[in-house]
Amino acid sequence: MAEVSKNDGPTDATPNVSEVETVDAETPEEAVAAIEAPAERGEPILQVRNLVKHFPLTQGVIVKRQIGAVKAVDGISFDLYQGETLGIVGESGCGKSTVAKLLMTLEQATAGEVFYKGQDITKLSGRALKAVRRNIQMVFQDPYTSLNPRMTVGDIIGEPFEIHPEVAPKGDRRRKVQELLDVVGLNPEYINRYPHQFSGGQRQRIGIARGLALNPEIIICDEPVSALDVSVQAQVINLMEKLQDEFNLSYLFIAHDLSIVRHISDRVGVMYLGKMAEIGSDEQIYDHPTHPYTQALLSAVPVPDPEAREGRERIILTGDVPSPANPPSGCRFRTRCWKAQDKCAEEIPLLAIPERFAGKDTPAAHESACHFAEEKDVVHAA
Ligand SMILES: Nc1ncnc2c1ncn2[C@@H]1O[C@H](COP(=O)(O)OP(=O)(O)O)[C@@H](O)[C@H]1O
Ligand code: SF4
Ligand SMILES: [Mg+2]
Repeated sequence: MAEVSKNDGPTDATPNVSEVETVDAETPEEAVAAIEAPAERGEPILQVRNLVKHFPLTQGVIVKRQIGAVKAVDGISFDLYQGETLGIVGESGCGKSTVAKLLMTLEQATAGEVFYKGQDITKLSGRALKAVRRNIQMVFQDPYTSLNPRMTVGDIIGEPFEIHPEVAPKGDRRRKVQELLDVVGLNPEYINRYPHQFSGGQRQRIGIARGLALNPEIIICDEPVSALDVSVQAQVINLMEKLQDEFNLSYLFIAHDLSIVRHISDRVGVMYLGKMAEIGSDEQIYDHPTHPYTQALLSAVPVPDPEAREGRERIILTGDVPSPANPPSGCRFRTRCWKAQDKCAEEIPLLAIPERFAGKDTPAAHESACHFAEEKDVVHAA
């Protein structure tokens, strides 16, 4: 995949969490006005704080009793800056899609806050919530199942206008949909075709066109290329980068594969069992990872160059991911970590710049939730 230029947004010094400047809107009009105000490039646009989602586990048919909870997301904090791409990576089941749904307000948070331009969207309702929903759109994982097979492409892309007619009045919709088809590299004459008449990559372009229809500021991409052939993945990612520049978008880009995310991300967060293990700039995470989990994920990325491969230590993760209904005490990664010590079972490691690197001018000085964070040479091709 071609190397891409990073935008001029966040740098290595960009903090993972910055101060929230809350907006106290007294009327719905004020709330909507704050949401519609343009965000400055490089400013935090979305600020997630201690976000929690527990799905109750119940027993009993007639009288349901709660016997526990799946701790899908268990206290996550990060900022998304205007104009940047933040990659979120982690194995299947670690809570990535749940984070996406919480940010889309498709799921209700158990606890925590999500500030969009200073207003907590978990507490918004009515017109203000509708304005937020217009501005945060999603592109889904599977272009085969996420498009309704009985609707034409024109109806699929134009459907969001039914809820937000102010963006495209009825008489103008056909033209607007054709413009969107053109923007994502599809022939505008395909407007009356059905999803099955397109390839996987083309379908994901349709999904992207639909995501763009309402001129959002943020697009949450939940494994948008995972179901596509490798050759097509690069094309779709290149398209997304072009659109980001053209429409000034901020992306939260979710993937289970570290190598896909690097090409598009300015910063990357690594999730494990509902928590953030490590977060930093792409250089910090790929070239100077300090969390054993990130190091293990990177060492699993295939290296095509035999010389570089030689002498390379591969870290093999043993054991399965524990159940999020019953996560290990202390550090959640300890049951698979080759460095685990007694302290790891007793104390939860906080996501912070490790003491030994704090204040030092080194790329290792980024946030890592490990008691024994240290650099390790990991040869990888990502
Ligand atoms: N609606 C739900 N009810 C109960 N458990 C759920 C629900 N949605 C997700 N989960 C569980 O939460 C955990 C995280 O899931 P998910 O966010 O889909 O992970 P990922 O996207 O990283 O694969 C998984 O254990 C999953 O089974
Ligand atoms: S805190 Fe302990 S168990 Fe967790 S990643 Fe660090 S060394 Fe491993
Ligand atoms: Mg998922």
